[in-house]
Amino acid sequence: MNKSIARIAVLVSGGGTNLQALIDAQNSGIIHSGKIELVLSNNPNAYALERAKNAGISAVCVSKKVCGSQEVFEEKLKAVLKEYEIDLIVLAGFMSILSESFIKEYPKRIINVHPSLIPSFCGKGFYGLYVHEAALKYGVKVTGATVHFVNEVPDGGEIIMQKAVNIRENDTPETLQKRVMKLAEWKILPAATEKVCQQIINGEKE
Ligand code: GAR
Repeated sequence: MNKSIARIAVLVSGGGTNLQALIDAQNSGIIHSGKIELVLSNNPNAYALERAKNAGISAVCVSKKVCGSQEVFEEKLKAVLKEYEIDLIVLAGFMSILSESFIKEYPKRIINVHPSLIPSFCGKGFYGLYVHEAALKYGVKVTGATVHFVNEVPDGGEIIMQKAVNIRENDTPETLQKRVMKLAEWKILPAATEKVCQQIINGEKE
């Protein structure tokens, strides 16, 4: 059965600038085939939770520490996602690894933003500033961001969108991270989210 709008959950762990980009894109109409119904954090202190509340979006924290095990943590996540009848899960700086069995329950319904041009600087151990440190250490002249579907291979799912960003000679991991966010992540994450929402409501997900 086709729906008129896809219900989105954004999973976060930290500052939530990508969440903010999604909220702004929803307000400006860039995202119009989906609506952010839920923000889920694994970190009770994530500023992203404040951003959600400020935007009038339900904000829920599920802490792995409190849950005690990965299994209980994921059962809790699934229960909340079900309660909100979520169609699309957007990982936006979500720093907790999800198990293969969790991911397999949402085929082509989980997307992630990664701060490099996959397949460079991705996979286990590559997250946040570490990604930019690695790019600078290697000496690449171009980096960027990727939005991809999440499958059981870390950062290995089908690529939806990418955007390149030039590296400058005096870049530090911090300056590079900021520029990659501003020029790439905050643009392609909303665009890719809208694209996948359109596919969902048109029933083209398979
Ligand atoms: C973003 O740069 C995102 O791409 C990265 O964490 C940052 C979160 O920032 N994600 C990963 O490294 C995942 N492998 P935010 O909380 O301000 O959106």
